[in-house]
Amino acid sequence: MSKILIKNIKGLVQAGEQIPSVRRGAEMKQLEVLENAYLALEDGEVIAYGPMNEWEGIIDWRELEIIDADGCFVLPAFIDSHTHTVFAKTREEEFVDRIHGLSYEEIAARGGGILNSARKLSELSEENLYSDAKKRIERIIQTGTGALEIKSGYGLSLEGELKMLRVIKRLKESMPIVIKATFLGAHAFPAEYKENERAYIDLIINQMLPAIHAEQLADYIDVFCERNYFSVAEMEEILKAGIAYGLKPKVHVNQFSILGGVEKAVELGAISVDHLEEIDEKDIQALKKSNVIPTLLPGCSHFLSIPFGDARRMIEAGLPIALASDFNPGSSPNYDLMTILSLACIKQKMTPEEGINALTINAAAALELSESHGKIALGRKSPIMLTNEIPSLAYLAYAFGEQHVQRIFI
Ligand code: NIG
Ligand code: FE
Repeated sequence: MSKILIKNIKGLVQAGEQIPSVRRGAEMKQLEVLENAYLALEDGEVIAYGPMNEWEGIIDWRELEIIDADGCFVLPAFIDSHTHTVFAKTREEEFVDRIHGLSYEEIAARGGGILNSARKLSELSEENLYSDAKKRIERIIQTGTGALEIKSGYGLSLEGELKMLRVIKRLKESMPIVIKATFLGAHAFPAEYKENERAYIDLIINQMLPAIHAEQLADYIDVFCERNYFSVAEMEEILKAGIAYGLKPKVHVNQFSILGGVEKAVELGAISVDHLEEIDEKDIQALKKSNVIPTLLPGCSHFLSIPFGDARRMIEAGLPIALASDFNPGSSPNYDLMTILSLACIKQKMTPEEGINALTINAAAALELSESHGKIALGRKSPIMLTNEIPSLAYLAYAFGEQHVQRIFI
């Protein structure tokens, strides 16, 4: 049995049984910070917390590891609700092409982009795909991430998609944090289906989905709804087929253009709509009437030099924003959610409090993990992070690029 007491915590963040499972609009600036606090964990479970002057006597002293967190903050680990962590190779050559002036869409049109990743994935064994992803996740955890969503979508064939999803399943079983799997067969049309896109949609619906269902390989279904990728009608057909197999939608929409995908995803009961670099009033109104979590991915905007999602407009409209890394080799090769927090504050004018809510409770909601993740509460066993000594909570966002996490408790 492991017993840990963290004492003299400068600020214990997002701790409380009453904290809601989602914060919308103006509520997003609310953040519980208990100053000069303690937190006691037994086998990773929160057994007590409160102000320092109340802790004496509550704790059984035997075999207790005591951590002095003087000057440090304790927060629930962040949740990354949108990633493409399983991939074969990085894509620096496209990065350099963009420096020379090509756009993400131009690179994709030349067979780069997602199709480039799919080619590389087909050449890598399942074993190597697994061991590379495992190493990445070990590093991801060290940056303070305590739950992760991972998408398929670089397979783009029955074998390839199953290979990715089997790797994700193995990661779920072997890694110490919760991982959720999303089937993204509709990420791009493979080159061999360019003249017959219908056949690829049929492959997704008639072959991939039944095989994925038979092995219970996915929790969610995703479609990249975008010009040159999947239309709203195609997204609708694919999502409905996924829903029939029990997969709830989490979708890529409005990265480059507004096609009406947000309204359709809301209508189909999506858990989240992700990207939203572009948004219009109709989208906002549709989201307002729903429980869908709009998820912004500032790492992608930064890396591709495309607009940042209009967080202020969405918050002012009363929406509950989540933030995620979109970690992937093409549009966001960074998994550090502290960097995402900085970008959201610097570029999207979210306050640090709003950003922390977006990476904890709202991100938990975007992965249906509200009952276990996103806040520190009695009886919970979800991961918790301890920061280095820092002058304030805002410093997490302010000192961008600095490593702030001292330790993560899982
Ligand atoms: O979320 N937009 C579509 N999919 C990924 C990028 C995939 C890639 O370029 O490899 C994204 O940005
Ligand atoms: Fe993505």
